[in-house]
Amino acid sequence: MIIQPKIRGFICVTAHPEGCDAHVQQQIDYVRTKANLREMPKRVLVIGASTGYGLASRIVPAFAGRAATVGVFFERPSENGKPASAGWYNSCAFERAANAVGLYAKSINGDAFSSEIKDRTVELIRKDLGTVDLVVYSLASPRRTHPKTGETYKSVLKPVEKTFTAKTVDTDKGLVTDISIEPASEQEISDTVQVMGGEDWEMWIDALEKGGALAEGAKTVAYSYIGPDLTWAIYRNGTIGRAKEDLEATARKLHQKLSPSGGGAFVSVNKALVTQASSAIPVVPLYISLLYKVMKQKGLHEGCIEQIQRLFADRLYNGASAQLDEASRIRMDDWEMLADVQSEVAALWPSVTTENLPQCSDIQGYREEFLRLFGFGLSGVDYTADVSPEVALPSA
Ligand code: NAI
Repeated sequence: MIIQPKIRGFICVTAHPEGCDAHVQQQIDYVRTKANLREMPKRVLVIGASTGYGLASRIVPAFAGRAATVGVFFERPSENGKPASAGWYNSCAFERAANAVGLYAKSINGDAFSSEIKDRTVELIRKDLGTVDLVVYSLASPRRTHPKTGETYKSVLKPVEKTFTAKTVDTDKGLVTDISIEPASEQEISDTVQVMGGEDWEMWIDALEKGGALAEGAKTVAYSYIGPDLTWAIYRNGTIGRAKEDLEATARKLHQKLSPSGGGAFVSVNKALVTQASSAIPVVPLYISLLYKVMKQKGLHEGCIEQIQRLFADRLYNGASAQLDEASRIRMDDWEMLADVQSEVAALWPSVTTENLPQCSDIQGYREEFLRLFGFGLSGVDYTADVSPEVALPSA
């Protein structure tokens, strides 16, 4: 079949297998242009390994440190002749590329919040690797079914206490409008913490420890975001921010447990980037379009792979120190938050309109990056050619 992008709101419901392959390969090539890193983890578990920051967190230890990797994700294989999800194609491409250079790579596709998937993962690690020495927690999910109570929680992206009115952009149509979002109820706040907070991360570490699958001195890292005051009402001070505070508190708790044996638990505050998760947040895509414009002009722009390469090289491994902030967090958003970057974004913000969006912002770059997430717009891929949507995961 010929596969074209089909955009519905903030998602693309199709994905291109060869394009996803090329996108994964680009990230591998980037890592290979960098020097091999020292003191890297050798057996890595990535939870949320198929797209965005998690995929990059699988590529970096594998291709800069020759690590064996187990990836957990929730993706849709091709069914009834329909394309699979991008994360499925990415994971197939990753495993093929890893296997081609003799690296162990296996994946588990299912609900990471469930006990069943945790048990299967522990069993696989015990059987094939013995233990893991790094666990990356990079889930972004709209819902979670609690493994003990069976209750399903939905996360919401809302402000807390006050209605928030701000500019937003429909990235597909290029329309800049005002949006007003009513504050979340207490129930919605606590449900969002249930989904995106730290409890599940802690459950993973407990399950690995109890199953004997966590190496002595193991590290674990999860990802958070802060951002500028332009987005605070919807992000850091909103429902998702409450969940991130909970995640950060979990890191401090896990760190106390893991640090005596030489390991540690960290939260890395990463840069705002176009991913499937971030495109769903109101207001944030407009901020990202302006941020990309400013950071590209200054030669400071990074994507997921550059961010995670720098995290491993300059903070977590390679003889580096984590350089924690006052709340014990790693700050990979250091370049995003530079005063001159933020003052230029803030200066653009009031003047951006539908009419001047292409000049004021990098909406074009945003759209291109969004399409690349689904394997579209990659050079060297013939999008007019017939392609089979069915691609097998080598380890399945
Ligand atoms: P993403 O949407 O690209 O990736 C989400 C991953 O989670 C995918 O691998 C998906 O398969 C997996 N997943 C979702 N639900 C699952 C489930 N029930 N079971 C198993 N796997 C499941 O998201 P992105 O943006 O890479 O986010 C990862 C983390 O990074 C999140 O914690 C996010 O808040 C954080 N972050 C993202 C930033 C951004 O701008 N995109 C900035 C800073 C932090």
